[in-house]
Amino acid sequence: MVQTRTVQLIIFCLLIISMQVLIQLEASTDSGDYVVLESLKEEWENVPPTWDGSDPCDDPWEGIDCNNSRVISIKLSSINLKGELSGDIEGLSELQILDLSYNKGLTGSLPQSIGNLKSLSILILVGCGFSGLIPNTIGSLSQLEFLSLNLNNFIGPIPASVGNLSKLRWLDLADNKLSGPLPISRGSTPGLDMLVHTKHFHLGRNQFSGEIPDQLFSSNMTLKHLLLEQNQLTGKIPSSLGLVQTLEVVRLDRNSLDGTIPSTLKSLTLMSELFLSNNKFTGPLPNLAGMNALNYLDMSNNTFSSADFPQWFSSLQSLTTLYPSLSCFRFIS
Ligand SMILES: *[C@@H]1O[C@H](CO)[C@@H](O)[C@H](O)[C@H]1NC(C)=O
Ligand SMILES: *[C@@H]1O[C@H](CO)[C@@H](O)[C@H](O)[C@H]1NC(C)=O
Ligand SMILES: *[C@@H]1O[C@H](CO)[C@@H](O)[C@H](O)[C@H]1NC(C)=O
Ligand SMILES: *[C@@H]1O[C@H](CO)[C@@H](O)[C@H](O)[C@H]1NC(C)=O
Repeated sequence: MVQTRTVQLIIFCLLIISMQVLIQLEASTDSGDYVVLESLKEEWENVPPTWDGSDPCDDPWEGIDCNNSRVISIKLSSINLKGELSGDIEGLSELQILDLSYNKGLTGSLPQSIGNLKSLSILILVGCGFSGLIPNTIGSLSQLEFLSLNLNNFIGPIPASVGNLSKLRWLDLADNKLSGPLPISRGSTPGLDMLVHTKHFHLGRNQFSGEIPDQLFSSNMTLKHLLLEQNQLTGKIPSSLGLVQTLEVVRLDRNSLDGTIPSTLKSLTLMSELFLSNNKFTGPLPNLAGMNALNYLDMSNNTFSSADFPQWFSSLQSLTTLYPSLSCFRFIS
């Protein structure tokens, strides 16, 4: 009897020990991923104090998340990180989320090798100090859904390869020094027109130039926000804009656009905010009757020919803000 109990106890203890060994084996960090994190740590000033010890997954390093001993997420927002983003990061082949936002001291250019992060779905580098070109390898991030590079010092064009990001839902490149035309697809060259699942194009406050291509817009698109304000865009608003039925906010203000406002816009019935101010638009005030959700409309500082109060204004039930104000119009009875 006593013997049986002793044997049972021994077996139980052995079980506990082997379970602990198993747990440790499972939780400890993949050695390749550990080497990459060590390399990032080497490169950066002001990493969190918990970035110590040799098991970032099990004895967790702040901002690091793992799954099955692989690093799947790095979130280090607003902690005054300083330094550059090492090209070694490509080794984190299971990384899904990289968020280094609001660390102004992160400078230098993005490494070409970032394109090898094949699992990356979220890349957020807003409000850092990155500069140089956006690497064209970014178009190889086939799982990418969220790309936020706004508020940095990037220069040069939007890499055409961005058009290959078929899962992209959010594109924010605003507040940089990007220039050149808005890329559209041609032959085997991809372009922004291919991003039919993207809800947000935030491209304002850069130095983009040339015309807004007619080919950029199609009825396949699902864009909600099209923000192109404060660039150097010229030419007319393409009538194809009226095909994107999902649009809610359109900012074209502070460019050098001209011509008349295309009548196709009035079919955009979900539009709530439309910014056309500070351009060189001419012709009659656009007829926007039908934009039933419109509550903010700014057409100021253009050279529209007519100052007569357009009858259709009174049909816009949701409109609460209008520039120029009604007092600027001549009422005709
Ligand atoms: C973690 O890994 C398992 C197996 O590889 C996978 O099924 C699961 O979806 C992963 N979880 C996350 C959050 O990636
Ligand atoms: C875009 O994807 C296509 C198809 O996968 C590929 O052939 C092409 O080289 C890619 N283009 C760029 C610029 O990445
Ligand atoms: C839009 O959809 C049509 C029909 O589904 C397709 O033929 C066309 O290539 C699509 N255009 C784009 C830009 O995806
Ligand atoms: C009117 O718009 C032009 C650009 O078309 C700009 O240069 C000018 O500063 C604007 N004027 C005002 C008062 O905002």
